[in-house]
Amino acid sequence: MKGIILAGGLGTRLGELTKVTNKHLLPVYSKPMIYHPLETLIDAGIKEIRVVSGPEHTGDFLELLGSGERFNAGITYSIQEKPLGIAHAISLAEDFANGEAIAAILGDNIFEDRFNFDDFYDGAKVFLKEVPDANRFGVAEISNGRLAGIEEKPKNPKTNYAVTGLYLYDHTVFYRIKNLKPSARGELEVSELNSSYIKDEKMQYEILKGFWTDAGTFDSLLRANILASQKEKQKK
Ligand code: DAU
Repeated sequence: MKGIILAGGLGTRLGELTKVTNKHLLPVYSKPMIYHPLETLIDAGIKEIRVVSGPEHTGDFLELLGSGERFNAGITYSIQEKPLGIAHAISLAEDFANGEAIAAILGDNIFEDRFNFDDFYDGAKVFLKEVPDANRFGVAEISNGRLAGIEEKPKNPKTNYAVTGLYLYDHTVFYRIKNLKPSARGELEVSELNSSYIKDEKMQYEILKGFWTDAGTFDSLLRANILASQKEKQKK
């Protein structure tokens, strides 16, 4: 399985913090933010990783991560010229995936769990976490133990289960993205992509045991720093 880190987008919700730099280069406790999803992929045994970022800071990512040798991984780069959505960013790695299954992770997501993707072979898989503010996320609807649907940032969430920013996809993902239409905000939405797998009864899910947070707002960035510090201290 190959890995993709989505590190494009403008980070506008972080105001002045992202005026001259990219959100994923900001510190989350002792490391730049992008190190956290990178380590999640590497700890899961992934050795080939593509970083997708906007044109403004691709050079900074290259300078920071290089060939990936320091991390015992091969890292290559794609440029997303405009922030046209998470599914659009994934589509840029089609050549890289080359028919293999992929693990796509959002560059601002911090996970405590360690993953093992060995049993994944077809369809798609998402990872859910119960949160107090589900309306900020893609929200899973579960019925009779099955994932029945995903709604993106619903006003009245049907459950408290957020769809976290780690997605496993088989090789049909690129074909599915080509059939997506831009949403009202002009993006190819990852929730629509996931819905296409649900419709075909090809979606699995797992509920996370450890903490999870995004880091794209002032409050979630603060929380990410605190949780990352706890994780690092537990390791010692
Ligand atoms: O954090 C999990 C949530 O992430 C999910 O529950 C939602 O379903 C999903 O849509 C997403 O919601 P956000 O509104 O928080 O996504 P955001 O626009 O902040 O993008 C998250 C990351 O994706 C960001 O750190 C960089 C990457 N990205 C985003 C866009 C829009 C790209 O690489 N390219 C893009 O065009």
